[in-house]
Amino acid sequence: MESILANELSPSTLIGDAEKSKTNFAKDAPKINRYSLADSADVMNANMDYHIEVITRDDKHRVLKFLRRFFFRDEPLNHSIELIPEGENSTCLELEDYCSKSSLENNLSLMAVSSSGAIVGILLNGKLESCDEDEPEYIASCDNPKFKKILRLLHHVDRQVTTSGKFKNQNVLEIKIISVDTNWRGKGVAKALVEKATEIAREHDFHVMRADCTSMFSGKLCERLGFEAIYRLNYSDYVDEDRKPIFTPAFPHTAIITYVKRL
Ligand SMILES: CC(C)(COP(=O)(O)OP(=O)(O)OC[C@H]1O[C@@H](n2cnc3c(N)ncnc32)[C@H](O)[C@@H]1OP(=O)(O)O)[C@@H](O)C(=O)NCCC(=O)NCCS
Repeated sequence: MESILANELSPSTLIGDAEKSKTNFAKDAPKINRYSLADSADVMNANMDYHIEVITRDDKHRVLKFLRRFFFRDEPLNHSIELIPEGENSTCLELEDYCSKSSLENNLSLMAVSSSGAIVGILLNGKLESCDEDEPEYIASCDNPKFKKILRLLHHVDRQVTTSGKFKNQNVLEIKIISVDTNWRGKGVAKALVEKATEIAREHDFHVMRADCTSMFSGKLCERLGFEAIYRLNYSDYVDEDRKPIFTPAFPHTAIITYVKRL
């Protein structure tokens, strides 16, 4: 079992005003034309039109099918620990549960749908619950050791951000999952989904939007949309009891960063 020494080593940072300019880590990174480890998608459709819909419970099956194909495999942390084996039908039931729980029936989650009716992007959102000091039961009882590592990291980050007391008593909409079809990446689909979610968050009287970005690309997207980086933890500083990094995602994904936007 890994023991998280992140606190003791104080590698993580609550980002103050003076440091904000340093957090624009995406700016100088080289442009990569294609970043995907998912199955290759359908033959490129010349017509790249899409629209955005609110996800309802009837969409559950096809939303999970999409996420299994793209997010489960090539989100940087999932990939770095090989969360799911190769193969069209491989999955992680615990991650499916995480996606379904509170995000598919709350009318706050969105999907981008192409003119031919295929899902091309997903944004799962939910109201942020208060963070417990201790490890919550759903993490302690998680039977999948790989996914448990991810849940622990997310909880660790949440605790650090919560301890700062920044958003006490505020209604926070959390972006939990963001995923775009391989062939549609780099075309602004994720940006359009986050912009639509921001509109919905305002309509529902949320005060703040938050995203804990594990990928440099989602971080870059948040920066472009005026989110502010408030916490950063470098993967190289999040270590086990032998001081070895627990996650070693592929470049350019070097840190998990919490972004917020006041509405
Ligand atoms: C992260 C992800 C959702 C972005 O979706 P997208 O539709 O390609 O994003 P956008 O087109 O709106 O672009 C967002 C920003 O990232 C940049 N970006 C996207 N792909 C990039 C790439 N391969 N290399 C460099 N920058 C890239 C875009 O250029 C854009 O920045 P810009 O506004 O400065 O140009 C998508 O890459 C993905 O599904 N990744 C796998 C799952 C994942 O990692 N999810 C996020 C976990 S927090």
